[in-house]
Amino acid sequence: PLTAKVNSNDCLEIGGCDLTELVKQYGSPLYVVDEFTLRTACRQYRNSFLKYYSGESQVIYASKAWSCLAICRIVDSEGLGFDVVSGGELFTTLKAGVKGNKIYFHGNNKSIEELKFAIESDCTIIIDNWLELTHLAEISAQNSQKSVRVMLRLTPGIECHTHEYIRTGHLDSKFGFDPNQIPEVLSYVSQKPSLNCVGLHAHIGSQIFERQPHQDLAEVLVEWLQKAQEYGLPIQELNVGGGLGICYTEADDPPTIAEWVQAVASAIESACHNRQLPLPKLIAEPGRSLVGSACVTAYTVGSRKEIPEIRTYIAVDGGMSDNPRPITYQSVYRAVIANRMSAKLTETVTVAGKHCESGDIVIKDALLPKTESGDILVVTSTGAYNYSMASNYNRIGRPAAILVNQGEANLIIQRESYQNLIAQDCLPARLIDSDK
Ligand code: LLP
Repeated sequence: PLTAKVNSNDCLEIGGCDLTELVKQYGSPLYVVDEFTLRTACRQYRNSFLKYYSGESQVIYASKAWSCLAICRIVDSEGLGFDVVSGGELFTTLKAGVKGNKIYFHGNNKSIEELKFAIESDCTIIIDNWLELTHLAEISAQNSQKSVRVMLRLTPGIECHTHEYIRTGHLDSKFGFDPNQIPEVLSYVSQKPSLNCVGLHAHIGSQIFERQPHQDLAEVLVEWLQKAQEYGLPIQELNVGGGLGICYTEADDPPTIAEWVQAVASAIESACHNRQLPLPKLIAEPGRSLVGSACVTAYTVGSRKEIPEIRTYIAVDGGMSDNPRPITYQSVYRAVIANRMSAKLTETVTVAGKHCESGDIVIKDALLPKTESGDILVVTSTGAYNYSMASNYNRIGRPAAILVNQGEANLIIQRESYQNLIAQDCLPARLIDSDK
């Protein structure tokens, strides 16, 4: 986080709050969100679009990266819109006070209930496939007062270098209409007055460091924008998705937010210029690059196992349930010992989680000072897709999350209790009655 510093006790401080003190007060594992870093990223996106794009623009937060009331509220107050992908994310966003007309509803298999919820809430719906298109045409035709604002998601056929599981733009992807179907889709939509098709959408993947695939995407989208206009669709919005990567380790070297926006905006401008098209409203929907660097996870170090000449494990009090990214995508993280920041880095250890699974490793080779049980180990850049993908594996409650800013710490998500863990369990009466 941008506000990280070492205080006079040699402890790591974020947002003016000492992490070791926060752990004493709130326990661990603990997600700690730096409000300043989050707001700064929102502003960098907005200001960069104003600076580098001459047309209208909007930045929407891909709330799948971390959806909860406080984060949605902060992002809303910075003037961003929202991308939601389920009834649950829509509900959360609305409950945070966001207006439905700032929300874009995504997903490759939205239920009828979700479609109706999105329509009632005044969202823009990003149509992904034929089934959804026909359902929406039916539902919207019954709803005679007002047409439904929709966009079409297209598979752009662009490859990029990121983990296979988070690539979405290549042709063999479950998302969006195949390019071959586009003429048919455009012609169908143009005959449905209850569907107000305002734009096109594509997303190529996540944690991307190259600029070229996003520039190629701009070219492809503008080409389709022109085709859509030939079908008489008054399409004026292009949504280029998200995908900008962040630094997890020193080896990562992504473009800055400003550089990314400049690359995308200038590619759209020149593609429009070449085709003599007016500039569309340009939408981007970043997730990771807004929240990723704004959060750290604090753990307490526990047991240690030394296997001579092979490896030393140190275990922390969380793991794959609060951060499933290492086991899912082999993601690499960095850590520091927050209560002894200036201690010499003397050993390379494997930081293990506490789950009953050998693959539950937080960091494979972490260079740390010699750790002791009770040390506070802080993993950085855990804001994106950690809490949002957290589970209760091994019936471990999800951690609490704290928002820090200028020395103030506020609880934004409570730690799950044992009682929370059984809250949804039901015991059929016959199991209670059957005593042995
Ligand atoms: N728009 C769409 C349609 C998306 O599918 C995504 C991410 C985004 C925007 C935001 O992408 P971002 O700016 O965050 O890269 N769980 C994985 C990431 C999955 C991304 C899914 N879609 C991970 O932990 O790496």
